[in-house]
Amino acid sequence: MHTIRSVTVIGAGTMGNGIAHVFAQHGFTVTLVDINAASLARALQTIEKNADRQLNKGTITPEIKAQLFRQLSTSTNLPEAVQNADLVIEAATENKAVKLDIFRQLDDAAPSTAILATNTSSISITAIASATRRPGKVIGMHFMNPVPVMRLVEIINGYSTEKEVTEQIVKLSEALDKTPCIVNDYPGFIANRILMPMLNEAIYSLYEGVAGVTGIDTVMKLGMAHPMGPLQLADFIGLDVCLSILRVLHEGFGNPKYAPCPLLVNMVAAGKLGAKTGEGFYIYSKDSRSPAPSPSFAG
Ligand code: NAI
Repeated sequence: MHTIRSVTVIGAGTMGNGIAHVFAQHGFTVTLVDINAASLARALQTIEKNADRQLNKGTITPEIKAQLFRQLSTSTNLPEAVQNADLVIEAATENKAVKLDIFRQLDDAAPSTAILATNTSSISITAIASATRRPGKVIGMHFMNPVPVMRLVEIINGYSTEKEVTEQIVKLSEALDKTPCIVNDYPGFIANRILMPMLNEAIYSLYEGVAGVTGIDTVMKLGMAHPMGPLQLADFIGLDVCLSILRVLHEGFGNPKYAPCPLLVNMVAAGKLGAKTGEGFYIYSKDSRSPAPSPSFAG
């Protein structure tokens, strides 16, 4: 089995910067790649801010923070950045065509022994693996947001993933202080197959006027001990992301129970995508959040 020391992360957005952070913090040599140099600059700022937060909380030492930045470099040249990689983790935009293109490039440029992982939330690992000549070495490594804080890694076996590759990714996740959970490659895997219908049902409850935004979130927070209500969580994930995952579930299973609520479809069409656009089920200002008024919402 090839030891994993050098890791390349593709995509420096929300998830990519967190994944690079966690690997570098644990002593791996990490190259973070993006097509957009501005994304890389933003990612480094985010990593610095999050490392300072860890430092203030006492979860890392100043030496670990220094190591993190020593181990980390950035690049906009994908073929060069993967040529010595033992593991590549793709965390680029959730778009099948984009991912297939990246995996073709990775297959050409990365060593034949390298494991190619994807952080996709919903795209078939088997389909992504089929873009390569090494489907046995392709696997899903689904981290949760925010990556430095959340313990779970959902590991997804594609149809052809080799047993040794899964075992190695399980050990690696444990070395990152994460808890791995192995699942098979069916739409939504486990996390989103269960989470998204719950969020969709919360949106339907609002759409049908069963309760308002605050009421729905309060019932789930206080009644089910969820740290965040489902509407706030949907805003945090991004309503466009929720909609695209529901569409994968709906199409993948052909079952109407996964049909996205028309209110969600409308909000995405209106550009109300949640926290990232400043408005979703809530309106976000710098330090506060209040339920968004809308004719579609119950009082
Ligand atoms: P994001 O939109 O924040 O970042 C995506 C980054 O990929 C951007 O910086 C973009 O410039 C870059 N990119 C696009 N095409 C590229 C290419 N060809 N080569 C290199 N870089 C490229 O997206 P986010 O939220 O970080 O999501 C990334 C992946 O992680 C997606 O597959 C998503 O489904 C998954 N995911 C997202 C979670 C979340 O809460 N945001 C949670 C778990 C998984």
